[in-house]
Amino acid sequence: MTILDGKKVSNDIKDEIKAQVDKMKESGEKVPHLAAVIVGNDGASLTYVGSKVRACERVGFESTMIRMSNTTSEVELLDKIEELNQNDDIDGFIIQLPLPRQINTQKVLMAVDPSKDVDGFHPENFGKMALDMSTFIPATPFGILELLDRYKVDTDGKHTVIIGRSHIVGRPMSILMGRKGFPGNSTVTLTHSHTKNITQITSQADIIISALGVPNFLKAEMVKDDAVIIDVGITRVPDESSPKGYIITGDVDFENISKKASFITPVPGGVGPMTIAMLLKNTLLARERRM
Ligand code: GUN
Repeated sequence: MTILDGKKVSNDIKDEIKAQVDKMKESGEKVPHLAAVIVGNDGASLTYVGSKVRACERVGFESTMIRMSNTTSEVELLDKIEELNQNDDIDGFIIQLPLPRQINTQKVLMAVDPSKDVDGFHPENFGKMALDMSTFIPATPFGILELLDRYKVDTDGKHTVIIGRSHIVGRPMSILMGRKGFPGNSTVTLTHSHTKNITQITSQADIIISALGVPNFLKAEMVKDDAVIIDVGITRVPDESSPKGYIITGDVDFENISKKASFITPVPGGVGPMTIAMLLKNTLLARERRM
């Protein structure tokens, strides 16, 4: 069994990006600038955005965090987005999700200039991804592809089962794993809350990508020997013995499944850090495209 070490690979990627940024600085070029907008006070979202900003510092990017109150109106957020679209100093920006209920998420994502949409959530970019055109691939799916690539996990002709059809992970992942090339060329099954007999499906999978957000959902008896297991779950489970009062728990029963898997991602330290590294990669790409 091989652990897909997202922490190590993401550090390698950050080193590679930093080397490129150092070269940009030496030749007097502008360095990439990422902005992140966070609306409200959701603890997990604040943690993620904080990590994104720290990652920018580590690789030498400029970063701007924009905090807006929980009562921000849709119009106020759309005005902020327009300001960021027009600001020539900002190469890319993200609107951290989820948004408060008074705000229509689709409307907001459509307002982002596709050339600055480093999350790859705008329909233009999502459509380009589905059509194999050059675009921004959403950071979590991009991170999973990069892990499979760097560990040379064979995906060709394999049966990949995806659990969860979110717009951020499951849906794009189902498109990407079925694409021509590597990683790709998989036969994909996209499962979700209406799927019947999920165990029958997962037990036939060569590769399982679980993006459900239900702690320990995937049990050893649902998985065949030598399967590749990618755990995208990051749920905070209350735990009084830990200093933060919670522990981050994945969708996968790691202890038991790791005994039979060929490759497996840990939580934490698997897909999570890869998401941040690939957001940086997309931001660098956005800067390069604007030159
Ligand atoms: N919320 C959960 N994942 C993400 C992500 O990748 N990007 C943004 N903007 N919000 C998220």
